[in-house]
Amino acid sequence: MIKTRKQLIQAYLKFFQGKGHKQVQNAPLIPEHDPTVLFTTAGMHPLVPYILGERHPQGKRLVSLQRCIRTGDIDEVGDDLHLTFFEMLGNWSLGDYWKEEAIKFSYEFLTSKKWLGLDPKKISVTVFGGDGEIPRDLDSAEVWKQVGIPSERIFFLGKEHNFWGPAGKTGPCGPCSEMFYDTGRAKCSRKCNPSCSCGKYFEIWNDVFMEYNKLADGKYEKLKQRNVDTGMGVERTVAMLQNKANVFEIEVFSPIEKRIEELANIGGETKERMKSIRIIADHLKAACFILAERVAPSNLDRGYVLRRLIRKAIRHGRLLRMQKFTKEIAEEILKIYRRAYPQIKEHGSFILSEMEKEEIKFLATLEKGLKRFEDIIKEIKTKEISGKDAFDLYQSYGFPIEMTQELAQERKLKIDAKGFEEEFKKHQEMSRQATEKRFKGGLADFSEKATKLHTATHLLHQALRNVLGTEVRQHGSNITPERLRFDFNFTRKVTEEEIKKVQDEVNKNIKAALPVKKEEMSFPEARKQGALAFFGERYGEKVSVYSIGGYSKEVCGGPHVKNTKELGHFRIVKEEGVAAGVRRIKAVLE
Ligand code: SER
Repeated sequence: MIKTRKQLIQAYLKFFQGKGHKQVQNAPLIPEHDPTVLFTTAGMHPLVPYILGERHPQGKRLVSLQRCIRTGDIDEVGDDLHLTFFEMLGNWSLGDYWKEEAIKFSYEFLTSKKWLGLDPKKISVTVFGGDGEIPRDLDSAEVWKQVGIPSERIFFLGKEHNFWGPAGKTGPCGPCSEMFYDTGRAKCSRKCNPSCSCGKYFEIWNDVFMEYNKLADGKYEKLKQRNVDTGMGVERTVAMLQNKANVFEIEVFSPIEKRIEELANIGGETKERMKSIRIIADHLKAACFILAERVAPSNLDRGYVLRRLIRKAIRHGRLLRMQKFTKEIAEEILKIYRRAYPQIKEHGSFILSEMEKEEIKFLATLEKGLKRFEDIIKEIKTKEISGKDAFDLYQSYGFPIEMTQELAQERKLKIDAKGFEEEFKKHQEMSRQATEKRFKGGLADFSEKATKLHTATHLLHQALRNVLGTEVRQHGSNITPERLRFDFNFTRKVTEEEIKKVQDEVNKNIKAALPVKKEEMSFPEARKQGALAFFGERYGEKVSVYSIGGYSKEVCGGPHVKNTKELGHFRIVKEEGVAAGVRRIKAVLE
């Protein structure tokens, strides 16, 4: 019987390996090739170039388990199903099999006694109902009928439910067919169907038929090849296999909840308490995984998301009357995942100490901040908290805007978010672009020094590839006005001689006064032109490509200088290993 997370993962990989799929690695949560995107949100992200037509070294049939972070639904966390961190199983056809085989594979895995053995009578499916542009997916419906799902359990739904992607405004996408398990609850109304969230239908799997590329003008063109991209949520499926109504009752959550209840000395008897317990469990788990990528809490980019998650958990801990607790909870989380994830084991002490540091920092201002919040709402005459007050809570008490927003919502108040943004901009003296970026979830440093280091990073990336080999790939990048830090995949120490070669090559290109040119284009076009690119969540939008003379070309959000001669002298100050197969270079401009 397949019941647990481990059993499900093993079974899924084995099933698809038996069908000629090769297992691809569980990619880092930080998309490998991009210093500007935040997190891997689905198993397909690391595969985008191959969906667009590049040849994958492992072939046309792939299978994986992928860790994911999604912050889009963060306000839903606390209900039965939504999670910030989750694991996703998936199988892919890159221009190989199509709808018939994909659906037959899914059906066999779900219903065969050798695999999940679900009762076929309890399975309902949805298929794309069509619109003016993309036809109704009669082919998929036909295959579902062939395998034995009767018409009354095949639902045709619109684009909002049965069309996946693109992740950004443009990029690969296509109609999808989702599979649901009937929990046995009564229909909430005559109209109840799998898109309803009443709890009757439990979504377990999504087969996406990616054959389109959405263009900037909103039109769809056919991709070079037809791909299948599927995603099965591990936590949801395990909950279903264990007959649990929510994901928090399965083995990757219950010990965490138990520990929270012990520390709080109360259980989740009320709806509010239950919600707080779930938020703490989910957010601290996501935080542990982000920390395992060696990201620390900060006011920038991923560090800011991490800070938000930890601080929100701390506030909910306070609602449960817990004092200091994050380290204890994190210890429980590490126990669950240390075998499955080497990076969780390897960076265990970093995770715990950073978590504790952040908690101590925030606890120093939390009470005072909450008091200030109460004073603010006593004073206000309208139903809106001004941007200035929200900014004060952020600046003086470390309240992420999202937390103030949540506090306001609990009192049925609003926040002048625009006003906050303006205040923020005023105080940080940042460009409009930087501020906009921040409100999309990240904050770039646009100072002159940082800008120079951005350009130096591109020169370094190319020089490393020239000196060490093109297998060198960017793993992460972090820039402060003082220095650049560049992580890349490489399996041994870089010799002093090689360091010197790289440094000399960068300095040669600075002296050569190469012009830096920016062009906007679609992601597929950028790939076609050979730009080094990121395969992350914003791949589908129009991207900026920066070229430095004929020497380097990268997809990047910038900012960059106009000419390399502005950079000065480049010096590598340190080269070290940070994880298995990952090296780090720190360098300065002088
Ligand atoms: N990309 C699709 C999803 O995330 C299928 O993997 O649901």
